[in-house]
Amino acid sequence: MRIYDIIDKKRHGDCLSQEEIDFVISSYMSGNAQDYQISALLMAICINSMNEAETSALTKAMVNSGEVLDLSLLGEKTVDKHSTGGIGDKTTLIVAPIAASLGCTVAKMSGRGLGFTGGTVDKLESIDNFKTELSIDEFYKQANDIGIVVVGQSANLTPADKKLYALRDVTATIDSIPLIASSIMSKKIASGSKSIVLDVKYGSGAFMKTPEDAEKLAEAMIKIGKDFGRRVTAVITDMNAPLGTCIGNSLEVWEAIEALSGRGEENLIRLCSAVSACMVSSALGVDMEEAESMVESAISSGKSLDKFYEWIEKQGGDVSKIKDTSSLLSAKFKRDIYAKEDGYIYSLDAQKIGTASMILGAGRVNKDDKIDHLAGIKLSKSLGDYVNKGDVLATMYTSNDALFDSASLTFEQSISYSKCKPKKSDLIYKVIK
Ligand code: URA
Repeated sequence: MRIYDIIDKKRHGDCLSQEEIDFVISSYMSGNAQDYQISALLMAICINSMNEAETSALTKAMVNSGEVLDLSLLGEKTVDKHSTGGIGDKTTLIVAPIAASLGCTVAKMSGRGLGFTGGTVDKLESIDNFKTELSIDEFYKQANDIGIVVVGQSANLTPADKKLYALRDVTATIDSIPLIASSIMSKKIASGSKSIVLDVKYGSGAFMKTPEDAEKLAEAMIKIGKDFGRRVTAVITDMNAPLGTCIGNSLEVWEAIEALSGRGEENLIRLCSAVSACMVSSALGVDMEEAESMVESAISSGKSLDKFYEWIEKQGGDVSKIKDTSSLLSAKFKRDIYAKEDGYIYSLDAQKIGTASMILGAGRVNKDDKIDHLAGIKLSKSLGDYVNKGDVLATMYTSNDALFDSASLTFEQSISYSKCKPKKSDLIYKVIK
């Protein structure tokens, strides 16, 4: 077999076999295939796509490139969730303790943020002393003891995906449904949970710009999950505006605690309730209606907030400090941003707000950059609100006040006003299995 022939085959739009795909991945991992050859193949895939069998074959090859977690000792109730990325997306901090408080086992690996998107691991590390690296034995033990553990992604999980993703990032080949689906699902399959709930976003802050494309991506991932014997549910959601009111690590922990205390912003609560109900329904085998009512009572009884604190404490986090939630909003410098016009807020571009928050120090430009955990943006107004010129739209938080001017300029570009009240699109487009 030769890499050249495989590239040529895909260039002509033909289908690749499992053997050919295995050969590509093993050659790339061993250094026998070069970056320029794999780049050419990736571009041919972007242009000519892959069918379901090829997408599953690629997923399998990437899963087999590294370590695979065996969570079978933890039983049938293991459940993972994944969001295809968003601004202000703190859902894991909320849905994981809800699901665990109801008897699911959430043993999860999460990522760090890069660019304008945030990562769960960064959010958790804004809690003093929280450990995001545990040994594999500690990981299993905690999952077994309290039903919830979240750590940073192991370097040994799907190394082929890591290598391919880095190449896709610099060769304009991210944007392909089979490549995105196999990349995400390889990590979820290798992470071992029996049930997987996917929050597939569309909109300005997401990979998929339309709900129709998000649905195609969701369907591709559900099909892969089925091929690997997993129960997969996808919630397709709008990411045209940030989720909730806070963007930035410790600010998002603050907002997660508010949500678990029953005081969350409407859209955030709606999404977290839907995602956690899907997790509970899939992992515990109850119907959606029952799962929704279980979720509601886990929040109103305080059971899920107790589970959140138990989880944070178990991983070494300083719970007494975050119980005084003002510590999470205690950046050295704060500055308000004011409305420049009267009118309804017509758009709040999620990607630009994510970028403004990154400028304040909440995100990384390069993967080894240090982040300012207290930095970020707290919105005072949402899409569709009426504002008068001079009203506070948002507050910026940072440890370096020299960053305010550039961040507020970017934030202001995210906003447009209109004289008529804009029609709100529904946050949840569809739930599919
Ligand atoms: N997230 C991933 O993990 N992979 C992709 O290809 C896109 C988003």
